[in-house]
Amino acid sequence: MDKTIKPIEHLRGETELPGDKSISHRTVLIGGISKGKTTVKNFLQAEDCLHTVSAFRAMGIDIDIRDKNVSIRGGGLKGLKKPEKKLYLGNSGTTMRILPGILAGQDFKVELTGDASLSKRPMDRIIAPLREMGACIHSQNRNGCPPLTVGGGRIKPIEHSTRVASAQVKSCILFAGLYADGVTSVTEPFMSRDHTERMLEFAGAKISRKNLTVSVKGKCPLQGKEFIVPGDPSGAAFFIAGAALLEGSDVTLRGVGLNPTRTGFLTALRKMGARITVLNKKEAVEPYGDIRVRSGPLKALTIEKKDVPLLIDEVPILAVLATQAKGTTVIKGIGELRVKETDRIFSITENLRLMNADIRADGDTLVINGRKKRFAKATLNSFKDHRTAMSMAVAALFADGDCKIKDTACVNTSFPEFFNLLEHLK
Ligand code: S3P
Repeated sequence: MDKTIKPIEHLRGETELPGDKSISHRTVLIGGISKGKTTVKNFLQAEDCLHTVSAFRAMGIDIDIRDKNVSIRGGGLKGLKKPEKKLYLGNSGTTMRILPGILAGQDFKVELTGDASLSKRPMDRIIAPLREMGACIHSQNRNGCPPLTVGGGRIKPIEHSTRVASAQVKSCILFAGLYADGVTSVTEPFMSRDHTERMLEFAGAKISRKNLTVSVKGKCPLQGKEFIVPGDPSGAAFFIAGAALLEGSDVTLRGVGLNPTRTGFLTALRKMGARITVLNKKEAVEPYGDIRVRSGPLKALTIEKKDVPLLIDEVPILAVLATQAKGTTVIKGIGELRVKETDRIFSITENLRLMNADIRADGDTLVINGRKKRFAKATLNSFKDHRTAMSMAVAALFADGDCKIKDTACVNTSFPEFFNLLEHLK
């Protein structure tokens, strides 16, 4: 499905955001192995999270979805059953990378498959530590990518240092650590999102944290709880960027997640000079609040490698904004973008160049020479990647004519309501 986007003057109004994708996945991952009932409010009903739901249903877990409310009847740490078929996880890297941590502790073997994009994504980063813990896991094509076969084993604790900061890898090892006799630790080079630690602790796991190391004590049961999923800050980023860019904009986004490991984009925008106010901040397992954004002149900035995990999914939309900021923006240490749903360094430079922007990739660094000027209209390619599609839709709002974006059905991966909300804020 292609989409034509017409340029507009500004974005205005208020809206709530659909639930956070990372947190929604984790409510099912945790609820499925907790004892008793887990209830979830504001669950994200997008394809990725629904793949996690189907996987748990196929393993015997009763999950009831009513609009954004979900209830899960967990069977405890070892309460999953062998599924009758392979588990198909679609485009969901989060499910493919975290679920094996839980499967490592079960007494059966499962095959995990995904779509063409997921089948190219590196899994050796979870295969190696899970094997070290005693799980039986391999890439069926011996290329380090899905399909994977995962079987449980006698899980022993490890102390693992990850080469890249990845919440998915960290989470996988922490979940496997729930099944180990003793304490499992993960140390990252830089801090990545910490939803797993927060949510596992809330469900009763024994978690401790020191600097860049998180540890979990194995064999402690989890209890069903109520999770309230805040609005997705990565989804909010598209409207925040649109409002920062288009003169005369004034947008308020209600109930957006403000976990400090996810607010790197807000920090970056403030440094660029965007007018952002956070209102009604509430502390909770996952803090949230309202974000008001008004347009204003933007200036360039430099993002260092250590700050990248805090805005990893927002780099494409940040690049769009940087093309319109005064000066040269440099985004360093973004090699991980090459192995996301598509190579996002390529997808974003390719598309923005078609729109006459001055952007180049230098290894794992993006260099963007900004100037405030409407983009040239163009036909853009989503590369079937949801965040590329939505980033280009926002850029197209600030073009000098209609832009066509190819293959936009991919937005359903994380944000089925995206185009409706965009209409609402026009
Ligand atoms: C996610 C972590 C990030 C992010 C992805 C979701 C998660 O990936 O890009 O969209 O839910 O843990 P990495 O941790 O692998 O960088």
